[in-house]
Amino acid sequence: NIPEPCIVVIFGASGDLTKRKLLPALYHLEQSNLLPTDFAVVGVARRDLSATFAHDMHDGILAGGGVDKDEAKLDKFMERVQYFATEFDNDEGFEKLKAFLADLDKKFGTKGNRLFYLAVAPEFFADITQRLGKHGMTGEEGGGWVRVIIEKPFGTDLESAKKLNSEVNSVLHEDQIFRIDHYLGKETVQNILVFRFGNGIFEPIWNRNYIDSVQITAAESIGIEGRGPFYEAAGALRDVLQNHVMEVLSFVAMEPPDSFEADAVRFEKLKVWKAIEPIRVEDTARGQYGPGRVGDRPVVGYREEERVSKESQTETYAAMKLEIENWRWAGVPFYIRAAKRLEKRVTEVVITFRQPPLHLFKGSSNKGMESNVLTLRIQPDDGISLKFGAKLPGPTTNVAQVEMNFSYADAFGKSSANGYERLLLDAMLGDGTLFAEREGVETTWALMTPILEAWKAQKVDFPNYEAGSWGPKEADELLARDGRAWKV
Ligand code: BG6
Repeated sequence: NIPEPCIVVIFGASGDLTKRKLLPALYHLEQSNLLPTDFAVVGVARRDLSATFAHDMHDGILAGGGVDKDEAKLDKFMERVQYFATEFDNDEGFEKLKAFLADLDKKFGTKGNRLFYLAVAPEFFADITQRLGKHGMTGEEGGGWVRVIIEKPFGTDLESAKKLNSEVNSVLHEDQIFRIDHYLGKETVQNILVFRFGNGIFEPIWNRNYIDSVQITAAESIGIEGRGPFYEAAGALRDVLQNHVMEVLSFVAMEPPDSFEADAVRFEKLKVWKAIEPIRVEDTARGQYGPGRVGDRPVVGYREEERVSKESQTETYAAMKLEIENWRWAGVPFYIRAAKRLEKRVTEVVITFRQPPLHLFKGSSNKGMESNVLTLRIQPDDGISLKFGAKLPGPTTNVAQVEMNFSYADAFGKSSANGYERLLLDAMLGDGTLFAEREGVETTWALMTPILEAWKAQKVDFPNYEAGSWGPKEADELLARDGRAWKV
């Protein structure tokens, strides 16, 4: 399925995302012959980078890996990469941009179709969209389709998300808006749906009758990577838990959709989020890292990071227990967490099954019988594993825990896809299945906002975990209370 001719217009093109992810993703699509022949990319930013832009993007593509030796192909692609400088609040700039794009239509045959990508700071989302409206660039006036990809964070709480939604919806139809969450572009996240609904054997046991509990962990070993001001205002809950982790949760918990179409999938996701009980602050835990060691490298504490307050109350670790009150999940706790500066980078879903009704055999060691555990490894070391008991060789009938493992790399070879490829392609094709929609975003914010408010009202004694550890004891207690422990 090849998209129609179009121009991808990236606002915020001087940022890291464009060079590290977006251009490499577009080029990979080109290499896979998935881009239309009539195609162009325009980077838009406030600074005048016309002299260096093409060179920088070329480097970014090479550094992105997976580029074959065909330099001629890359050079040809680069001919279609253009640059345009304007302030984002400058009407004259937008008029000029409009004319610039119209000229490119003539040159490259792109037929007036536009995919705008807002890779800018969130305070510009509404402004840019409204200016596109004001200058007749939203497709209302005919001439081609217009779609807009909006990066995260989509709002910082329920109120701001609602405001942003009504601002962008005032100039664009919902089916023109593509709220991106790059986790949905990850193969392993999409594979959750394939695993559940593309196989016959898992779905019958995917419910409260067989599942004891679910854990979703998004752990990072990196710190805030120089993004002090951004992270101070965000924190782990807003940065990762409200979006990436909640998206993963919806894939794990949703009912089978009628089809793999945007409306059907989004409807089922929304039902899951709506069925989540209001979260009690007692069912949450937060933390902030102090100095420590990651690997063999000493690292500073969060409060010593650049442009971070010495008294910062921002959480770099957020955990909570959620309960989904529906027929499938009532009584099954979902423990979720996201954090920076933990011992290692690992994002995974761990599903623990109930024990058999009768303990006929002795467990290995003295632990007694262990549960079956299914782990969906999103990254790194992408794959799936299932732990189960097997008879220990020998004249007794003792049981030992063994593991069956599927690894993406072993089965399919290493993939260089960065998640943005699929999402850019889908947006060019007008397929919103793997994007967030208005009500979904507001529903997850509605769940999280009371917690953000409760946390804000209550000061805590930070830091409370060492960089390079597995987080604060409060998060362990959250599970210990229920007789459970984090499994990563
Ligand atoms: C981003 C967050 O959305 O996701 C970052 O802003 C985080 O803080 C990143 O590091 C994690 O993405 P990935 O793909 O590396 O898991």
